[in-house]
Amino acid sequence: MDADTQKRAAAARALEFVQAGMRLGLGTGSTAAHFVDLLGERVRGGLDVVAVPTSEATRAQASKLGIALTTLDETPELDLTVDGADEIAPDLTVIKGGGGALLREKIVAAASARMVVIADDSKWVSVLGRFPLPIEIAPFGAKATGRAIDAALRAADCSGPLVLRKGSDGKAFVTDGGHWILDAHLQRIVDPPALATRLAGVPGVVEHGLFIGLVETAILAGDDGVRLVERSQS
Ligand code: A5P
Repeated sequence: MDADTQKRAAAARALEFVQAGMRLGLGTGSTAAHFVDLLGERVRGGLDVVAVPTSEATRAQASKLGIALTTLDETPELDLTVDGADEIAPDLTVIKGGGGALLREKIVAAASARMVVIADDSKWVSVLGRFPLPIEIAPFGAKATGRAIDAALRAADCSGPLVLRKGSDGKAFVTDGGHWILDAHLQRIVDPPALATRLAGVPGVVEHGLFIGLVETAILAGDDGVRLVERSQS
């Protein structure tokens, strides 16, 4: 199975968590796009759900497929969010934001009773950090914020280059919320909760891509098929 087939297989398994009447969060990225596509087929077949998209890209895809959309203002509590991930650790702490949608993704995940991540097996790691950690910042004072982030990283025993994400036009990539992203090349995040606390304390940091205690189930597809990993409650 190539990676794309694996992503679709994970997405298909996640569809089994969806029940009629559910309020869903729809993730962003290439794996989540498979889920939205398959959900669209079910909706065409008569499944009745409403959904909050985590990005303008997902909103456009879902609305084209005829999936009924709502907002967190109209529907502040969701039953289930299905989203992709950039890295997944065994305790189901994940890195997200490779597609730049981390802020809305985290808000939607936090508003959901359950979050399921779907991925091909390449996303499963023993320690997070090889994938650069996305940190969303306000454009105002970006240089000062970058320096404060550097200090926060060092205080959490992580360090590495912070790189301003650029779009295809060579200018700073702008998120759906109008912010910028610094990608932190850390290689190893030994203590994700400590790092998350430090980053949350930096003025100018809008959000970071560490999702801690949010994911309940990971669905991973590999050459040997699809497996489910549940977060241990201990
Ligand atoms: C979007 O901001 C991300 O959090 C994605 O969910 C993540 O980057 C995974 O994307 P792929 O499914 O495209 O690998």
